[in-house]
Order: sequence, then structure tokens, then C-alpha cells
Amino acid sequence: MTSNSLNIKKCVEKDVLEWFLDNGVDEVLAHNPVNKTLVPEQKPVAPLQVTAQPNTSVQTRLLEEASDKPLIGTTQAIIEACALAKQAKTLTDLQNAIATFNGLAVKKTAMNMVFCDGNPKADIMVIGEAPGADEDRMGKPFVGASGQLLDKILKSIGLTRAAEDPHNATYISNILNWRPPGNRTPTPDEMKIALPFIERHIQLVQPKILVLVGNTPMKTILNTKEGIKKMRGRWHSYQTITPDLDPLEHEILALPTFHPAFLLRNPYEKKTVWQDMVMLQKKREELGITS
Ligand code: URA
Repeated sequence: MTSNSLNIKKCVEKDVLEWFLDNGVDEVLAHNPVNKTLVPEQKPVAPLQVTAQPNTSVQTRLLEEASDKPLIGTTQAIIEACALAKQAKTLTDLQNAIATFNGLAVKKTAMNMVFCDGNPKADIMVIGEAPGADEDRMGKPFVGASGQLLDKILKSIGLTRAAEDPHNATYISNILNWRPPGNRTPTPDEMKIALPFIERHIQLVQPKILVLVGNTPMKTILNTKEGIKKMRGRWHSYQTITPDLDPLEHEILALPTFHPAFLLRNPYEKKTVWQDMVMLQKKREELGITS
């Protein structure tokens, strides 16, 4: 090959890579292409009874065992998600149940499961949409650029993930525990399948307040078709949607606000989120959950 044709080849490869990036293909998953859009074989998966303690090797083993099993269809996935969520008596049970669950195709393309971060005793639980590339790599929610902004926003009213005092702590999770390829928005079916898990997650943590960041978590958790612009800036009463789950032990208030990724693209909206944080602070004082 002449040096001229080598240069042309390099230019073409660069263009192709840029085209992939523009279209959200920013991760190499395997050397050979796999058609993940094929309809999976519909085989029932035996319900799980997991009681193992939280530990990475347990989760890794469960993931390996589950990865050989075929995916299941949406209706069956919802039924199984409800049954597994109901069975989970602790956060560890829930984490293991999600790790072995084969009803979400995003699990097959993600690198890591992203379950939670922060203090599980926190009065305030923040719920986002789904992990992005950084979260997928680290296995923790909100660790990328939008996570750093989220931390700053919460810190402005004295809340941190690391705080031991439940009044000053936050606990963070997402509706979806696996990164959708190319950071696409989770589909309505994915949200329906993941709902029993996040609702059980809320029940096990029993926060006093939910902060729902962005349109997707707000619509899913508040079971509404209204958009975030209409729903933010007001308090809502969260009610469990999944019929199989027990009712809540106490009222949980929900405050929807803009997603930090939206703020990174629209910094002039930071003032709106600041108003939401002022509301949150006032409510904490009213409920006596500040220290
Ligand atoms: N966006 C989310 O909604 N969740 C994350 O964990 C990261 C980015």
C-alpha cells in the first residue's frame, strides 16, 4: 500500500468512527457484531430465591449464571419482576434478584449493573433515569459530569451521599439498573419492566422524600403523562403502582426537578432547580429532618 492510500484509509476510518460517535455508538462491546434486535426465544425462567449477602463475587457469579439464559418477553418479564421484587426482603436480596433477572435486553449490552450509592438510611432518595457510560464503567449511579453537578446541587442544601446522619444524607438509584446502549432513553416497556424493582427499592429504603430527576423517572414513579415542566416546582404524594407490592408504611413526598444533564445543556435553567432546592429545604425544616 502506498503512503497516499494509507492516508486515505486513515481518513475514511476517522470519518466512520466520527459517524458512529454522532449516532451514539461510543462503546466497543465485542470484536464480532451481534444482532441484539432478534426476538429472543420465549422460555420460562425459574423464579429465584436469593438470600446471599452483598458481595461482589456473589453478584459476579449470579451474573455469569444468568448470562447464558435467554431473554424473556415483556409480559412475562413484568410478571417475573413483580414476583422477584415482592420476594426481596433486603436491599441485598433485591440487588441479587435484579442481577439474575433476564427480562431486560439492556443487561446484555451493559458492562456493569448499577444499583445504588449513598446512605440507605437517608431521608432523601434521588432517582434518575439510567446509568450512562461512566456509571456503566464504575458500577455506581451519577458519577459522570451530570453526577458531579447533582452532588453540587444537593450540597447547596447540605446533603451528601457520604453523610452518616440520615438527615444530611442522600441515597441514589435509577429506574433502570443497566445502561441503555448509546445512552438512548429507556423505552416505555423497559420502564414498565423495571418499575417493580425500583418500587421495592423505595419500600426497602423508606425515604421521607423522593427527588425525581428528569422526565423519565418522574413519569414512571408518578404514573403520569404530564411533562417535567408542568410537574416540577410542586409536591406530589408518591403511591405504589405495582399492585403486588405491600402499601407504604408512611407517606412519601415526591419532588420532580430537571435532570442535571439537561442543566449542563441549558445552564440558564439552573435557577429553576435552585428554586426546587429551596422548596426541598423548606420541606425538610417543616418535617424536622435537618440537623
Ligand atoms: N443519568 C442518570 O439518570 N443516572 C445516572 O446514574 C447517570 C446519569
